[in-house]
Amino acid sequence: MKVLMVCLGNICRSPLAEGILKSKVDATKIYVDSAGTGGYHIGNAPDPRSIKVAHEHGLDISAQVCRKFTVSDFDSFDLIFAMDKSNYTNIIGLARNNGDVEKVKLILNEISSSDKEVPDPYYDAEDGFEHVFQMIDQACDSIAARLQRK
Ligand code: 4NP
Repeated sequence: MKVLMVCLGNICRSPLAEGILKSKVDATKIYVDSAGTGGYHIGNAPDPRSIKVAHEHGLDISAQVCRKFTVSDFDSFDLIFAMDKSNYTNIIGLARNNGDVEKVKLILNEISSSDKEVPDPYYDAEDGFEHVFQMIDQACDSIAARLQRK
């Protein structure tokens, strides 16, 4: 099983989602990666504020490297989680068929059914990152529980 976390920049939200889900699953069974739909920060480490909030929760995401989402990710991954509706629309825009479309989910629909979004914290103060961490952490609890049952 391969899971891809996707946001816009791949430096704030999806690196947290990658680190959080990795901490909750068996790495020999579930591979987790992240990517961004935008190409602004390719090759960079996560935003220092994401590294800091992860560290405060006992996770080290500092070695992650930003990359851009590509069409081939539809072939490589079983599940693709978008952080917000704009990410979702951008990913779906690259889908080649219904099989691709069906792999893409809004991450907070794992814990709520009303298309809620993980807000982009890039222009926020640091407390925005803790809020985002908590939302993603709850969703990843649910994702991990479901995947481990398979
Ligand atoms: P992310 O946040 O999508 O959670 O990684 C952003 C990071 C950078 C930019 C936008 C969003 N940016 O425009 O550079």
